Amino acid sequence: MANYIIIKDKLSNFNKEIKVSADKSISIRSVLLASQAVGTSKISNLLESEDVINTLKTIKKLGINYSKIRDVYYIEGFGINGFSIKKNTLLNAGNSGTLARLILGLLVKSKSKVKLIGDKSLSKRDFSRVIKPLRLFGVNIESKKNLLPIKIEGTNFLRPIEYEENIGSAQVKTCIIFAALNTPGITKIHSKISRNHTELFLKFLKYPIKIVKKLEYEKISVQGLKQFNSFEYEVPGDISSASFFIVLTLLSKDSKIIIKKVNVNKSRTGIISILNMMGANIKLKNITIYNGEKIADIHVKSKKKLYAVNCPSKLNSSAIDEFLIIFLVASRAKGVSKFKELGEMNKKESKRLDLAIKFLKLIGVKVNRFKDNINIHGNPDLELSKKYEMKNFLKDHRIFFLCCITALTLGGKWKINDKDSINTSFPDFLKTLKVIGAKIN
Ligand code: S3P
Repeated sequence: MANYIIIKDKLSNFNKEIKVSADKSISIRSVLLASQAVGTSKISNLLESEDVINTLKTIKKLGINYSKIRDVYYIEGFGINGFSIKKNTLLNAGNSGTLARLILGLLVKSKSKVKLIGDKSLSKRDFSRVIKPLRLFGVNIESKKNLLPIKIEGTNFLRPIEYEENIGSAQVKTCIIFAALNTPGITKIHSKISRNHTELFLKFLKYPIKIVKKLEYEKISVQGLKQFNSFEYEVPGDISSASFFIVLTLLSKDSKIIIKKVNVNKSRTGIISILNMMGANIKLKNITIYNGEKIADIHVKSKKKLYAVNCPSKLNSSAIDEFLIIFLVASRAKGVSKFKELGEMNKKESKRLDLAIKFLKLIGVKVNRFKDNINIHGNPDLELSKKYEMKNFLKDHRIFFLCCITALTLGGKWKINDKDSINTSFPDFLKTLKVIGAKIN
């Protein structure tokens, strides 16, 4: 089957209620934490995307059984470090940076050497950010140039660490927390604010973890070697997936959407704050707290007049996966939008900052770049009519989604390659677009 799609028409007005796929970050964490619990955990609405399937395959290779009965995943854990690891175990994290970085934290006490590999995109990504703290715990790690493949061999002589996490990376923070679970004593992390699903999950499991929040940092202390029991968990919708539908609605004519039951944890809602600063008026309704996480329905209406934003960099971490689609809104807003310190975007599934600039120029948007800061010159009348073909973007799912939303809101005749990339995070993306009325071949 062809691995591309064609979009030739903009979307006409719609008024719909949709659900988006389950949260990827929480799905991966729920599976990994179930693998460390005592007993059988039950997880419903688990995201069935490639990153999560690779997580399930990974725990299976480490001796943890799971089954699926009527949409519920049953995962049988044997407690912390309850893996049974065969000699020469090879783990493949595929495209998932989250899985690759998090699983290393759970292997710090492995009895045999484990080799970790990934796909072409993951093999280009830097692992020094986790290798450095893990070595301080006393773990033996082999890697050339801090890239995959990585060989890790655990030790019985782990020591707790005090670590400053200055990137604002939840993957690094979680890797350290996971290593701390296996380590006697108290591990302390002074961490730049980033998504906090791991901490909330551990609190829900009544694990002894303490968090003291400051303005831009938090101090986290984790007591090691405490067991926790199996759990039941229903994964909420993913705001990163919802973000494409938020922008689709905002930039379409006379349309409305309600996106049901999305995780709106403050460490993830940077996109809503930024778009509202631009005049979007996105509302959260039916707010509930579920096992520590905030869930809501997101209500969005089209907006003709949007204004440029001077985006505060303190929102960067809470919108890190959403800047691609935020840039599209900036392209249609009145004035020059400014975004700063976005170097982390180039450390994702592809070099997203470089690619975003290339993409914006392709569709005729004026962009200035100074190091990791960019200015986007918006044009409220921006319409596309030419032919565009997107290829060679390292199969980055979020670049694919961006192209689709651009085609459906700004026009033009589009051929978008690497359709399969949607399976990384949102396998129902194209189906959901069709429900709203998109014509996609
Ligand atoms: C993730 C954290 C973010 C994000 C990624 C998922 C997570 O990465 O970009 O898609 O689940 O912890 P960093 O922690 O490296 O910023």
